[in-house]
Amino acid sequence: MTDNSSPTAASRRSFLRTAAFAGAGLATGAAQAQTPKPDPAITEVPDWTRYLGPGVQNAPYGSPSKFEKHIIRQDVEWLTASRESSVNFTPLHALDGVITPSGLCFERHHSGVAEVDPAKHRLMIHGLVDKPLVFTMEDLKRFPGRINHAYFLECAANSGMEWRGAQLNGCQFTHGMIHNVWYHGLPLKTLLDEAGVKPKGKWLLAEGADSAAMTRSIPMEKALKDCMVAWGMNGEALRPEQGYPLRLVVPGWEGNMWVKWLRRLEVGDEPWEQREETSKYTDLLADGRARRFTWIMDAKSVVTSPSPQAPLVQKGPNVITGIAWSGRGRMQRIDVTIDGGKNWTTARLDGPNMPLSMVRFYLDFDWDGREMLIQSRAMDETGYVQPTKEELRKVRGVNSIYHNNGIQTWLVRSNGETENVEIS
Ligand code: MTE
Ligand code: CO
Repeated sequence: MTDNSSPTAASRRSFLRTAAFAGAGLATGAAQAQTPKPDPAITEVPDWTRYLGPGVQNAPYGSPSKFEKHIIRQDVEWLTASRESSVNFTPLHALDGVITPSGLCFERHHSGVAEVDPAKHRLMIHGLVDKPLVFTMEDLKRFPGRINHAYFLECAANSGMEWRGAQLNGCQFTHGMIHNVWYHGLPLKTLLDEAGVKPKGKWLLAEGADSAAMTRSIPMEKALKDCMVAWGMNGEALRPEQGYPLRLVVPGWEGNMWVKWLRRLEVGDEPWEQREETSKYTDLLADGRARRFTWIMDAKSVVTSPSPQAPLVQKGPNVITGIAWSGRGRMQRIDVTIDGGKNWTTARLDGPNMPLSMVRFYLDFDWDGREMLIQSRAMDETGYVQPTKEELRKVRGVNSIYHNNGIQTWLVRSNGETENVEIS
């Protein structure tokens, strides 16, 4: 059977023709919809079909199509005092699948991007160890036991602006302090075993080589369980913004602990109580007290399309899609509602469902043009269910910045425009 005579191809052609005419009808008004103008995209032969394109080596390192140039990381200027101690956001509304392209991974740094020469970079392990060690990058890459893992990294401040109500119009801004990439490197345990942690060594201090010399205390149990020292992401070297040439990977735990430009690991017997774990990255409660150490990122999800930057454009068949993740393991189930929580439907997961890594969900549906209140609700394998924002506020008040994993609501208007709202 040739492709032309295949019933599937024929029905696909007629679906496309209908869709093209329907599109023309929307754009030019109902009167003309009956005798639609021919679609130039079908009748005209475009240049790219007539002329040779650029040859190989035109772009030795490839970049996206020029038609995608609006899909970029963006910052919110009023949010931070300077660009060096700031954050930009992953354009989640425009992405699919579970792996964040390296060039679109949000960046968060306290003293700008350190431009580290790998030949001059060293990793020191010292403190309560039998044998203090200093590694070059080459030493690390020769070390036996290399591994690959995909993990999400979420900044504890992700969705932090939403504690007091709906603020920012776009999942890029409300949820974009997250990325999910493959890491290539060594288990941290391998290096700690080589140095020989003394029995009293219950904590680890990780320090970066940037001018912030960012430091965090990590309990030894976690360090030995699944942390990584990574030099690669998504098949190539780390990007400078992500800590080139070496970063710490702390799966499922708040992004601040994933020290970039990693240069020093000190083994000690108690936490160091550094700035980033006392005055920052602690959860301030309603009564003014702060929680000590909230490391795990609880289960969370968000619908990425439709969303304010990805409105609906047409009635009929549409796809609701989004992402979910949990710092406690695998994702079990994601439910989606279009009526503000009255009815929930379990979404379809597609692609890998790896522990401590993002999953992608879809809900195919027919939109009749009615206003919708869309939400997603994640449940991880421990049975933990993503709370509403109100439930979170009851326990935490509104002084918080960090660890806001509340359910997000998008209002889709009947013209398809979508807005960040809250339902009380
Ligand atoms: N490590 C160093 N050395 N300096 C930093 O400013 N920022 C931390 C962490 N590691 C930071 C750092 C914070 S708050 C986060 S959320 C993550 O890195 C962000 O990682 P990314 O830039 O790859 O998104
Ligand atoms: Co952070």
